[in-house]
Amino acid sequence: MRTDTLFSSYALGALTLPNRIAMAPMTRCRAVNPACAPTPMMVEYYGLRADAGLIISEGAPVSLQARGYAFTPGLYNAEQIAGWRAVTDGVHRQGGRIFAQLWHCGRISHGSLRKDGAPPVGPSAIIAANGMTMALDRATGQAAFVPCEAPRALSTAEVKGVVDEFAQAAKNAIDAGFDGVEIHGANGYLLDQFLSSYLNDRRDEYGGTLENRCRLHLDVARAVTAAIGAGRTGIRLSPLGQASDMQPDPEPMATYGYLAEELQKLRLVYLHLYDQSTSWIHDPTNALLRLIRAKFTNALMLCGGFDGAKAEAALAAGSGDLIAIGKPFISNPDLVSRLRRGVDIAAWDNKTFYAGGHSGYLDYPAFSG
Ligand SMILES: Cc1cc2nc3c(=O)[nH]c(=O)nc-3n(C[C@H](O)[C@H](O)[C@H](O)COP(=O)(O)O)c2cc1C
Repeated sequence: MRTDTLFSSYALGALTLPNRIAMAPMTRCRAVNPACAPTPMMVEYYGLRADAGLIISEGAPVSLQARGYAFTPGLYNAEQIAGWRAVTDGVHRQGGRIFAQLWHCGRISHGSLRKDGAPPVGPSAIIAANGMTMALDRATGQAAFVPCEAPRALSTAEVKGVVDEFAQAAKNAIDAGFDGVEIHGANGYLLDQFLSSYLNDRRDEYGGTLENRCRLHLDVARAVTAAIGAGRTGIRLSPLGQASDMQPDPEPMATYGYLAEELQKLRLVYLHLYDQSTSWIHDPTNALLRLIRAKFTNALMLCGGFDGAKAEAALAAGSGDLIAIGKPFISNPDLVSRLRRGVDIAAWDNKTFYAGGHSGYLDYPAFSG
């Protein structure tokens, strides 16, 4: 009998996940307060989704400079840690498990998010010409999507400072009661920016060769595992992604083969792969997917356009161990139970993804058939 089905349990580090379904990290911009701390609304939102095998929180900026969007709940001040503590307690009370996604937006950002107007930072001073971010109008307190501002290049010492910020945020996450963290290495944000041969034109040890462009991912992974243990550290990558003004890696086999192998040496508990095109991740014969699977032998989590049938197919083919699902979790708080019962999945409304407030956040009902 096959044991790797969607509703079979899985040992992830010290945790036993009751099913293979992870709630993918999803920014919702509901931390509408000056400290950008999680709110009681968020306690309810995450608590309602606690039957996921694992919840991965929305991206939590690791510092003020790391912010890229208004009202995203951070992991760098005391109010935020206290707010997250209420969230993690709520999830645990409901029998769930939750990792924090640690995030640095890099050049996908806007000076309005910082009182002193400090501009975004990146590997190089190259603007995300087609990138959008959510700025804050300090006069009205309202947020709006606007083009990204031009970044300045981080100095080598500042890059090492970013590594320290990730390690500190990981410790803060554990203090806040999270079961572990996911390093956000994907989607055109800071770590992914360093990986890109198109926009990383550095001359120091963080630019140029493949090893140098991968160094920030690996330094962060090393620092976070030293801070909280490899058994509580996962990482997210988005090979070939084009979101936030990225260009697909011209040598994905070399880049991701190397990264997967090095991340395995650090014994990270999982590698989370997000295919933004929702194509190759569903093909068990895909060469890139097979290479990463071969090089990274701890848990592989797959994301991008999965429904129940596609998730079962990917597990049956041995493509991955865990399946992360995003948007359906927004509109179906009881998604796991719906998938188990094979009942309808409610549609989500894009307009309320980042809208703040209750609507589109806490008003999606559980199935009542
Ligand atoms: C509203 C929204 C917010 C998101 N925020 C994040 C985020 O904070 N971090 C991240 O890595 N991915 C983020 N994503 C991407 C999701 O994690 C996921 O990869 C994507 O929705 C594809 O999965 P799906 O097809 O199951 O929805 C976000 C997606 C959505 C729809």
